[in-house]
Amino acid sequence: MVIGGSSGIGLSLIKLLISNGATVYNISRTVSTEWPEDVHHLTLDVLGDVSPLVNFVPEQLHGLVYSVGSINLKPFTRLTEEDFLNDYRINVLGAAKVIQLAIKSLKASQSASIVLISSVAARTGMNFHGSISAAKGAVEGMALSLAAELAPNHIRVNVVAPSLTDTPLAQNLLNTPERKEASNKRHPLGKYGSPEDISSAIAFLLAEETAWMTGQVIGIDGGLGKLKTN
Ligand SMILES: NC(=O)c1ccc[n+]([C@@H]2O[C@H](COP(=O)([O-])OP(=O)(O)OC[C@H]3O[C@@H](n4cnc5c(N)ncnc54)[C@H](OP(=O)(O)O)[C@@H]3O)[C@@H](O)[C@H]2O)c1
Repeated sequence: MVIGGSSGIGLSLIKLLISNGATVYNISRTVSTEWPEDVHHLTLDVLGDVSPLVNFVPEQLHGLVYSVGSINLKPFTRLTEEDFLNDYRINVLGAAKVIQLAIKSLKASQSASIVLISSVAARTGMNFHGSISAAKGAVEGMALSLAAELAPNHIRVNVVAPSLTDTPLAQNLLNTPERKEASNKRHPLGKYGSPEDISSAIAFLLAEETAWMTGQVIGIDGGLGKLKTN
């Protein structure tokens, strides 16, 4: 089940999962014309009442990916209380509410994987990221606690932490050739991310190959989070 599969990283993931033969359930506020025909969809705003999810989740769920989030960059003194609360609601509470309602089905599968999405900015100091870094740091903390709590149920919980990725969410940062060029140069591997760079890592964390991995935060960031190359 993908939450946020109508666009960006989630959409790329759905295409990949379907091509690998998975049955995919999606939750978002809109549908995508790019979906293969057999995607099960529930129109839902995770900021509101998520209870309709109870009747949508299949009896057994093998994977859950929360691919909803925000990019709200401002100088620290201009960040309002509402900015902090909005980022927390969409990144942390949205994931928490959905997971709570899906947990019975995840347990029923006897071996499930949850993947949450953080950001390189949760562990690398970047200006203007005060609010989103705080929210993504909370995502990582929640994932670790959840990984411990759900380990006895054979439910794994891992996190991917992308750097700038070419999705609709990031368009303001990539909307001119100059910005694209500057963004490429900031990354040690010489390019900003594609949705496929991130979705392939998420698919790996959903797969049996990673059946012994839990409680990990994996940077998918062109080296930006760890390397100093200039
Ligand atoms: N792109 C980047 O540079 C970048 C970098 C670091 C981390 N991330 C993280 O990666 C994740 C995916 O981001 P993305 O770049 O793929 O963003 P995106 O292209 O904007 O996709 C976000 C998805 O979430 C859904 N969504 C948004 N608000 C929702 C709501 N209130 N209720 C239900 N669904 C909602 C959207 O669908 P609808 O509009 O149809 O509801 C869409 O399917 C996020 O957690 C983001 O913080 C992204």
